[in-house]
Amino acid sequence: MYINFWYPVGRAEDVTDKPASVRLLGLPFVAWRDSRGTAHVMSDTCVHRGASLSKGTVKDDCIVCPYHGWRYEAGGKCKTIPSLGADAKLPSRAKIDSYPVEEKYGLVFAFLGDLPAAERPPIYTIPEWDQEGWRATPVTIIELDLYFERSMENGLDPAHNEFVHPSQGSPGMEPDYLKYGLNLENSEWGTKFFVAFDEKTHQQSDFTGLRASKSGVRAGSGSHGPNHLQTWINFSATNSFHQYFFEAPVDEAHTRVYFINTRNCMMDPKMDSRAYDANMKVANEDIAVLMHLNPIRTPESNIKEILLPTDQGVVKFREYLGQWEDRGWRVDLKKLRADAGDVAYAIPCPDRRTSGNWVLDAVPLLPGKDAATATVGAALAATATRTAGVGRA
Ligand code: FES
Ligand SMILES: [Fe+2]
Repeated sequence: MYINFWYPVGRAEDVTDKPASVRLLGLPFVAWRDSRGTAHVMSDTCVHRGASLSKGTVKDDCIVCPYHGWRYEAGGKCKTIPSLGADAKLPSRAKIDSYPVEEKYGLVFAFLGDLPAAERPPIYTIPEWDQEGWRATPVTIIELDLYFERSMENGLDPAHNEFVHPSQGSPGMEPDYLKYGLNLENSEWGTKFFVAFDEKTHQQSDFTGLRASKSGVRAGSGSHGPNHLQTWINFSATNSFHQYFFEAPVDEAHTRVYFINTRNCMMDPKMDSRAYDANMKVANEDIAVLMHLNPIRTPESNIKEILLPTDQGVVKFREYLGQWEDRGWRVDLKKLRADAGDVAYAIPCPDRRTSGNWVLDAVPLLPGKDAATATVGAALAATATRTAGVGRA
């Protein structure tokens, strides 16, 4: 799991003036709205004696701790400590991490990290959103008992379709792709590719009931950051499903996926349920395989798997993760696990760049390339093993 990216916290309607508890990156957060309707996401640990703020209330645009009533304003600073009296000077350490929030696509996103605004990777742009001729279905939440990387990598793997998704008419990839790989288009924050499927798809597919054109189905996948996934399924020049997955790594074994389907066909709103059923059927077929992968998390070294040209999207995704690890953004899961129950951590918020004196320790991170010389070798070795081992069939 990686800090310094935008993570979905909930659907807009899930974040209200009643504080909501949300677990992300293995840590507790609280999400709430103030009287103007602005959403806020903060660390869920009160720095007095550790109570969960999400069990508290919202009052006068502050979140109120349920234990001794400390009030924190949206920026994270404590404004009132009842037991000190109204005029007391409050301890400067009485503050909690508060994160940048953006609402988009009916979702509340929080930037979980400390990068200044100008350096933050953006939330993925859905070009079809609000575009005439396209219909977006309401957000679907899919809970997965697996690590988010396994889900992301599944989306970047075109070769499983033929075997996992008979409901799509068992589309086989064109033999040329199997031979030459995926023609990745890489950008700063992710990769994407398109593949064509062979003549088997010319038959009527029971996936949507749509008939593929003579030239067959062209489909693509892409990643953006560690947790935004795209799939584009073009049944023909005029019939497409373009799908966007915003993944929330809950912890090292659970993921919540916020899924948005856009389509330029089946435009009658009554068709939403048909599109939903088709998509959930496909998702459940994936889940049936993914929940039994061993190990549950992606191996640290690519040589612990045999990777083929059709796995090039997966390998590229791991390269990006390696780059973000080099920047020192990867959570040290082993340390987090070892300290569970003994230490309360918080993802460092942007304010930590400009002010000190924080009560909670920042979440442990693996040393990046810029860390002390002694640890650079280990970081490089980790990246090298992640990117090794891409074979050609
Ligand atoms: S623990 Fe929150 S006010 Fe005491
Ligand atoms: Fe799949």
